[in-house]
Amino acid sequence: MHFCFKSSNSNKLTNCRLVLDLLPAKNGEEPTIQFLLEVVDILTNYVKKTFDRSTKVLDFHHPHQLLEGMEGFNLELSDQPESLEQILVDCRDTLKYGVRTGHPRFFNQLSSGLDIIGLAGEWLTSTANTNMFTYEIAPVFVLMEQLTLKKMREMIGWPGGEGDGLFSPGGAISNMYSVMIARYKYFPEVKTKGMSAAPRLVLFTSEHSHYSIKKAGAALGFGTENVILLSTDERGRVIPADLEAKIIDAKQKGYMPLFVNATAGSTVYGAFDPINEIADICEKYNLWLHVDGAWGGGLLMSRQHRHKLSGVERANSVTWNPHKMMGVPLQCSAILVREKGILAGCNSMCAGYLFQPDKQYDVTYDTGDKAIQCGRHVDIFKFWLMWKAKGTIGFEQHIDKCLDLSQYLYNKIKNREGYEMVFDGPQHTNVCFWYIPPSLRGMPDGDERREKLHRVAPKIKAMMMESGTTMVGYQPQGTKVNFFRMVVSNSAATQSDIDFLIDEIERLGHDL
Ligand SMILES: Cc1ncc(COP(=O)(O)O)c(C=O)c1O
Repeated sequence: MHFCFKSSNSNKLTNCRLVLDLLPAKNGEEPTIQFLLEVVDILTNYVKKTFDRSTKVLDFHHPHQLLEGMEGFNLELSDQPESLEQILVDCRDTLKYGVRTGHPRFFNQLSSGLDIIGLAGEWLTSTANTNMFTYEIAPVFVLMEQLTLKKMREMIGWPGGEGDGLFSPGGAISNMYSVMIARYKYFPEVKTKGMSAAPRLVLFTSEHSHYSIKKAGAALGFGTENVILLSTDERGRVIPADLEAKIIDAKQKGYMPLFVNATAGSTVYGAFDPINEIADICEKYNLWLHVDGAWGGGLLMSRQHRHKLSGVERANSVTWNPHKMMGVPLQCSAILVREKGILAGCNSMCAGYLFQPDKQYDVTYDTGDKAIQCGRHVDIFKFWLMWKAKGTIGFEQHIDKCLDLSQYLYNKIKNREGYEMVFDGPQHTNVCFWYIPPSLRGMPDGDERREKLHRVAPKIKAMMMESGTTMVGYQPQGTKVNFFRMVVSNSAATQSDIDFLIDEIERLGHDL
């Protein structure tokens, strides 16, 4: 079956086309260019609308609706080829029914925004379609990765930017790397003999830390019971005395403390653990110190806010996700390590078909064997390109602006009728609060009020999604019932969008 498609660029009907007509087909250049121009048209329209506040953040449909198929858009795969015209419809509708994470009123995730240079970087990366494992097939990207990691290490404060690192598929994986290399540092024989070569090892992390530390404990054979959660203060920061007490307790039970994770910017509260005090304890007991700066690492770029990570230079390893606070398109996360060579020691398998030692160039640039992956996506280019385009100063301005906006929100609601703050004085862009509908105001604290309040945020969120106007996250935390967690990492957001969010919460929640 052949169909025709209309090129809005050339504004004329082209010949009927199938994918078989595109390159590498003979004479495929022209249809290929036409097709790609059509795709670019779809993408640029989407970009324009993303920044248009009159456009919805999302056009919500339930899974069964999308699975049943929308008009002209069917998710089922077919045996016969579709026309290129239909393929273009598929592209357009995939975006149509998705979520505009770059919209100025999308506040749902730590990663948000749509950076145009980053987007161009991602397009180029896909066009190059190569793999990070060797210099042989990714010479430019490998060098960019090395240079960028060095610059990040300099910002951490490791002398001369020395050390090691890799870009990984996300903060959870970067955190897993940190646990692996800590274990390798103290018990290298685990690499060959397995966990039976080590005593019962325990890891310490805050009760507010990201669940990926626990997941690493499970995946790497420590067991989640050996991931010991540390108590926090009212703002979600680790209490160092609790760490020391729990280390002593573990030792008395005959376990071996190995690793401490300090979070720089916790997921829900945006809390920064006191790294210096934690580092003192790690030095005293000879433990590996990891700083999970997946969310807060970006603040190292801000002269105004970097003091929140004071002591980070004392860490043995650091996770830092440019794809969160710095607005780099997903995915872009680095694991940075103070000791050079340990990543390779821990992970290398020296596959002869890939990492031949007798290549004509300096094979220390074949960095892929440091990774737990074989093939590795090129995550560096978009970040490197954004850094080139903005300069360090541009990232600093972005971060300062996001923190200013959060302060604006905090100041606006902290004494406003109908709001209760979960904690005072936010450290990061996380502002956590309850919206109290008029029906609950004045109701005495107790089980009934708690149960009712627990249902407020999910109801408002559901209505927000149905109307598609904005998105913000909610969750319970410990004994606290569901509350909103506002975060700002989107460079398109302004004070008017914060005002809009407040108005929207009140509009949707007023009659609950
Ligand atoms: C503090 C922290 N660490 C790690 C992660 C995991 O990062 P990723 O989603 O890139 O795997 C998150 C994600 O929200 C986080 O907030």
